[in-house]
Amino acid sequence: MTAGIDPATARADVDLDALAANVRALAAHAAPAQLMVVVKADAYGHGMVACARAARGAGADWLGVATPTEALTLREAGDQGPLLAWLYGVEEDLSPLVAADVDVSVQSVEQVSRLVAAAAVTERRARVHLKLDTGLSRNGATEPSWTELFAAAVEAEQVGAVEVVGLWSHLAAADEPGHPSVALQVAAFERGSSQARAVGLRPALRHLANSAATLVVPQAHHDLVRVGIAAYGIDPAPGLAARARVALRPVMTLRATLAAVKALPAGAGVSYGWTWHAPAPTTVGLVPLGYADGVPRQAGDRAEVGVGGHRAPVRGRVCMDQLVVELGPDAAAEVGDDVLLFGPGDAGEPTVADWAGWSDTIGYEIVARIGARVPRRHLGGAESR
Ligand SMILES: Cc1ncc(COP(=O)(O)O)c(C=O)c1O
Repeated sequence: MTAGIDPATARADVDLDALAANVRALAAHAAPAQLMVVVKADAYGHGMVACARAARGAGADWLGVATPTEALTLREAGDQGPLLAWLYGVEEDLSPLVAADVDVSVQSVEQVSRLVAAAAVTERRARVHLKLDTGLSRNGATEPSWTELFAAAVEAEQVGAVEVVGLWSHLAAADEPGHPSVALQVAAFERGSSQARAVGLRPALRHLANSAATLVVPQAHHDLVRVGIAAYGIDPAPGLAARARVALRPVMTLRATLAAVKALPAGAGVSYGWTWHAPAPTTVGLVPLGYADGVPRQAGDRAEVGVGGHRAPVRGRVCMDQLVVELGPDAAAEVGDDVLLFGPGDAGEPTVADWAGWSDTIGYEIVARIGARVPRRHLGGAESR
């Protein structure tokens, strides 16, 4: 028995057929570049192992994760395909990754040495992707340190400890078409590529593009694109998928059933702090999901949900485990009726993009923060079984 919510009370339905269709559409759009589907952070909240299988089944050449634990979880689940892990701490032993045939990103001479040590322990050649910081100022070697990073990589290749498979970087603002950073980063990546080549490195895979760049920055596609959010059917920014003529279908539907329905008199205050009072007699419904489940507290008094094909506004503050929606004075809704917090929009329900707007955030955060106690029900995915 897990400490989660009963799936009949609330759950996130994850449409693996939609995921597969998105992956196929993105692969076709990116071709001839290869496609990596990013499944870190539990596949942006959608369930990592099931989504990884569906992505592979739909033709994803690569999977990408942040942490070693994520990579090893995929291997334990039977995944054997190309897989890259890019974020680890100073204390983490990299040898399990090398032993499990996981490609590892390195950004410093120190990390190259650690990978050389891991290769020695495992008696295998480590596969490495050199990460350049071309302007995001986050992970990656900054330009002044490329010379020493490349020199360390060449030396490690010469002694047979590593194979430099990839050269890569990450974009800061590809979701803002025309943003000056994109051209600057593409140019910096070219400089890095030339410099690597000049010292004898021959990475077969140069990769720079996230979902946004995959959709609208073809000059950043190079050999491989890394898509996360678009694979889950969420546009990285409004209009990008349409601009690229790529049809994306949202993968996650967050649903619950009404736990209570009650009539309120005019003037009744609703939820903590009484931020909303019923202006007239009305009916409200109790939705058994709250901010502990990832429903943003900030969306209180702003968001809407779908009930019986109509929109019902969230009234008052979102609580830890529950929220209140107004069903209206003549509501026909009953306890047990379906509530759609977000989904593809087929029944007029809000989308992830709507919730992002109500919460002053991005769709990524809406799905990635759906809490651990919300059961995920994976639907479809026949081709991944
Ligand atoms: C290094 C890296 N590449 C690719 C991605 C995928 O980005 P997106 O979800 O915007 O496609 C991420 C996600 O943040 C990332 O960290």
